[in-house]
Amino acid sequence: MLEKIHKLLEEVESFGAQSKEQVEEYRIKWLSKKGEVTALFDDFKNVPSDLKKEVGQKLNLLKTKAQEKINELKEKFESESDTNDKKGIDLTLPALPTLQAGSRHPLSLVKNQIIDIFSRIGFTVSDGKEIEDDWHNFSALNTPENHPARDMQDTFYVNINPEMVLRTQTSSVQVHIMEYQKPPIRTISPGRVYRNEAISARAHCQFHQVEGLYIDENVSFADLKQTLLYFSKEMFGAETKIRLRPSYFPFTEPSAEMDISCTICKGKGCNVCKHTGWVEILGCGMVDPQVLTNCGIDANKYKGFAFGMGIERITMLKYQVKDLRLFFENDVRFLKQFTSA
Ligand code: DAH
Repeated sequence: MLEKIHKLLEEVESFGAQSKEQVEEYRIKWLSKKGEVTALFDDFKNVPSDLKKEVGQKLNLLKTKAQEKINELKEKFESESDTNDKKGIDLTLPALPTLQAGSRHPLSLVKNQIIDIFSRIGFTVSDGKEIEDDWHNFSALNTPENHPARDMQDTFYVNINPEMVLRTQTSSVQVHIMEYQKPPIRTISPGRVYRNEAISARAHCQFHQVEGLYIDENVSFADLKQTLLYFSKEMFGAETKIRLRPSYFPFTEPSAEMDISCTICKGKGCNVCKHTGWVEILGCGMVDPQVLTNCGIDANKYKGFAFGMGIERITMLKYQVKDLRLFFENDVRFLKQFTSA
């Protein structure tokens, strides 16, 4: 029996398994119910009593060694297979490229900026309709049929009954607001407008405007000028200067066009400002009392100013875009340049 124990001890000590499965095979061979070590324990009762002590110690030693060996090899294979599982993942690799996030369209960026600037001085935002009736787009704004001012804006007509137009200006929103809201009114209306014009680098049949309207008691031209100066500095930088030139719009009296000092040459003269140092950005004026009356507002009590600007024009100046058509082509090479703006 001692001899058998010694042989098994040697076997246990020299055992080095190649696989997890082999470890299990040897566990069964040695330690299971029918295993060789277990069999020796069963045989122990037949050992003569004078040898029992020695054999008992050796047998216990064998059992412990076998158990230790099995545990040690089991652990080794388990931790190896753990690292093998992780081998498929290389944590140092750069992350997979995520889906390309889109960016806001430059016209939206500038529109939002305009809204932001005016909302800081109390202007709300009003929406209007793109398909308008003649009254809101023209007649209420002092431009009745056959009025020569209608020629200023080539109009798309929508042939339904009664005849409608695609609005040629966001000034139409003024009329709606004044019809349903009592002064004081302080609002801007951004939106798309349409004109029947040949498409070129400087003109398009669709573009965007922002209309501004301020109606209250004692509103003066100085308020208009200060508001527009504030806007220009916020939009184009604190050094920006403005100038107002007398002009004509049917719905404002007096009317003016406003220039800002050229954003490119800072007033020195360049191609963009045609060497004048100034670029035009909007039309404005005091709301004609007749327009107030047309919209149900007491022209003796209230006064107001209005202004209207093209979002494309502001965007072109701000980002030095030379061709209006780029805004409508949606070429990603163009749009991508505004990703971080
Ligand atoms: N509606 C004008 C246009 O499209 C722009 C404009 C000029 C709007 C003067 C105004 C204004 O409110 O007062 O050309």
